Amino acid sequence: MNTLKKSLEIYERSQKVIAGPSTFGKSPDQFAQGITPYAVSHGKGAYVWDVDGNKYLDYTVALGCVILGYCHPYVEEAVKKQAEKGFSFSFVHYLEVEVAEMLCERIPCAEMARFGKNGNDVTSAAVRLSRYVTGKDHVLFCGYHGWQDWYISQTSMNGGILDTIKEYSHRFTYNDLESLESLLRQYKGSTACIIMEPVSRVSPKEGYLEAVRKLADQYKVVLIFDEVVTGFRFHRGGYQALSGVIPDLACFSKAMTNGLPLSALVGKKEIMERCSEIFFSLTTAGETVSLAAAKAVMEVFDKENVIEAIECNGRKLLEGVKKTIHSHELNDVVVADGFFCRNVMIFKDSGEVPAADIRTYWIQELAKRNILSGGYHMVGLTHQDNEISCTLDTYAEVFRLIKKALEDGSLSDQLQCSTAKQSARSL
Ligand SMILES: Cc1ncc(COP(=O)(O)O)c(C=O)c1O
Repeated sequence: MNTLKKSLEIYERSQKVIAGPSTFGKSPDQFAQGITPYAVSHGKGAYVWDVDGNKYLDYTVALGCVILGYCHPYVEEAVKKQAEKGFSFSFVHYLEVEVAEMLCERIPCAEMARFGKNGNDVTSAAVRLSRYVTGKDHVLFCGYHGWQDWYISQTSMNGGILDTIKEYSHRFTYNDLESLESLLRQYKGSTACIIMEPVSRVSPKEGYLEAVRKLADQYKVVLIFDEVVTGFRFHRGGYQALSGVIPDLACFSKAMTNGLPLSALVGKKEIMERCSEIFFSLTTAGETVSLAAAKAVMEVFDKENVIEAIECNGRKLLEGVKKTIHSHELNDVVVADGFFCRNVMIFKDSGEVPAADIRTYWIQELAKRNILSGGYHMVGLTHQDNEISCTLDTYAEVFRLIKKALEDGSLSDQLQCSTAKQSARSL
């Protein structure tokens, strides 16, 4: 069992000075609290070290950002070089133009770009811009898009948001065209945009994204793809390049810099050039170190054929996990679902034992065996054969324990922490 002495000390200190974790997805209660480390020290490749010196294989990769592995040498070098030349200026830095050109070259809908610091900045800007250019108010969405009022008003954590805000945003169901079309009918003539992740846990049904595009055109609403997570994970040009369905606007962040704070709103010129008529401005939007990272990341993607490598790593992992589940006769208890580059373990109730307990037990036992999991795998360039074979051996061991604990009815009693909560996506 790992010693977590310093981690727990830092947790105690944090309780006095940090008003909840700054990032919802890093809340200790989403992991095996007290067993998953609270505080990390550094990372390298596919691994992170906690403040007590324990080394972990990491599948959470900074909530999907670190697609090339921690401290990728090429990106690190570019960042260090830029850091020696100044972070921020009162004038446009040439890197802003270079990175915008690179985005426009590879992302199909991108004719122009604007930068922000995180996913929220650009999803908010995309919605505001859509409202402005259409002169309409309503927003139709599915999936998670950040902490802005129009979105969070429709979740269970909607404290502090004016009641009226939620009258203007409406959730539809992915892959259910009628759920979108009925909203378009209901808010005909007053809908500004449809905002959605082009793909999340499941693939789009055949023709679904094409039909969404058609509906957006028919009802004259802006189609926004939120590619904050999908961006560069499925294709160097985003999921839109893979699907061939081209939105009007798109939002990129996370993997774009391998972990530095930068995001991009991209899209068709006729819409994007009106950005300067609304107020979307951040002091640090053109900060150079993150721009240098974005440039280096895109260069690595091209030089090292990252997409193919991730697909290969992910295929071995996902197929191996499915096989291990099957060989332990746990198909009724857990399913590995999703894509090679991004997949999730879905746990089901087993008799009296709730799925949440089994999921927590899984996270707990993996943390004890030095694998960091939030119940999902964000597969990256550095999750290679060694990592995958170690993962599959560990999973076999933990599945054996789950099987036994379910058979003898002791699973819930073996939990050494409170039930791990789900992420913001399930609010
Ligand atoms: C699909 C999607 N959109 C937007 C966001 C918000 O991004 P950020 O947390 O960087 O502001 C997230 C964050 O996880 C996301 O997954």
